[in-house]
Amino acid sequence: MKKTILTGLRPTGNLHLGHFFGAGRTWRDIQDEYDFYLEIADVQALTDNFDNPEKVRKNVYEITKDLLSIGIKPENVHFFIQSQIPEIAELTVFYSNLVTVSRLQRNPTVKTEIAQKKELFGNDGESITYGFLGYPVSQAADITCFKGECVPVGDDQLPLIEQCREIVRKFNNIYGETLKVPEPLLSNTPRIKGLDGNEKMGKSLGNAIYLVDDEETIKKKIMGALTDTNKIKKDDPANPDVCMVYYYHKLVNSEENNNIICNECKKGARGCVQCKKELITKMNEFLEPIREKRKYYDNNPNEVNKVLEEGTKLAKEKAIETMKEVKKAMKIDY
Ligand code: TRP
Repeated sequence: MKKTILTGLRPTGNLHLGHFFGAGRTWRDIQDEYDFYLEIADVQALTDNFDNPEKVRKNVYEITKDLLSIGIKPENVHFFIQSQIPEIAELTVFYSNLVTVSRLQRNPTVKTEIAQKKELFGNDGESITYGFLGYPVSQAADITCFKGECVPVGDDQLPLIEQCREIVRKFNNIYGETLKVPEPLLSNTPRIKGLDGNEKMGKSLGNAIYLVDDEETIKKKIMGALTDTNKIKKDDPANPDVCMVYYYHKLVNSEENNNIICNECKKGARGCVQCKKELITKMNEFLEPIREKRKYYDNNPNEVNKVLEEGTKLAKEKAIETMKEVKKAMKIDY
């Protein structure tokens, strides 16, 4: 029997290279080895975007098309929409007794996000809602509602998986062995840096290359990417290790080419403009098959709907089964 894995994404924007190299690629490569549930976490997205429901709804479809375009196959993976499985919300309520408010406030991922909000809105946390603080509880329900044994995620999600493991252990202690304690499955690629050299590529940082970017956009973005700021003239020797153009060459170009680029750059035998032009070509070559598939799904929205409907139906069956066991254990199976 295949192991069950579950992972999720907040539908708040299109997928970029950071999502692809940090997670999506791994999901694609392991998809037929597991019973794979992929949650489009619209309820979680609403904890941050409750005042912008149009954005969330639009991105449910955008993200699904992005995932299909990178080769995640609905034959292998059950795509489902979180809000369409009310059992998750029900389980969240049961779990909320098993976690303290102070434990949630100490969760490193939540803490970082609260700090970012404070910076953004300049207040002392007054804007933190009950729903936002509780989203790790809801995420624990996401995972366990489908009996997820492994959760493939980036390292920023580890505190959320740990929180889930604590909740599950507590549940099993109080109500008897019912649920499996999930394990994280870390992707082997670290975070992907942004065009500006920032450690993280992100939508809010405005430094991302999206899988849906067209040729013109790619050209503009790469021409503006950060290079070695100490290099003034075309023939100055430079350090490829601080150059974002070389960094992306390493993602999409061949090892052989990259060795040449690295040596030429260090010797001052390669201008940045030429190097950027080569990267534009390679990046477009890399994105072209993804764009092709994307076009297909843009033209066939019914197929996208079908993927979501069928996956959600299957996920719902599994959630109902889990909730029967949960309610029996909690003695609320009237
Ligand atoms: N918190 C994840 C993110 O921001 C999304 C997510 C929702 C998730 N539910 C999940 C990830 C369950 C793993 C498992 O990207």
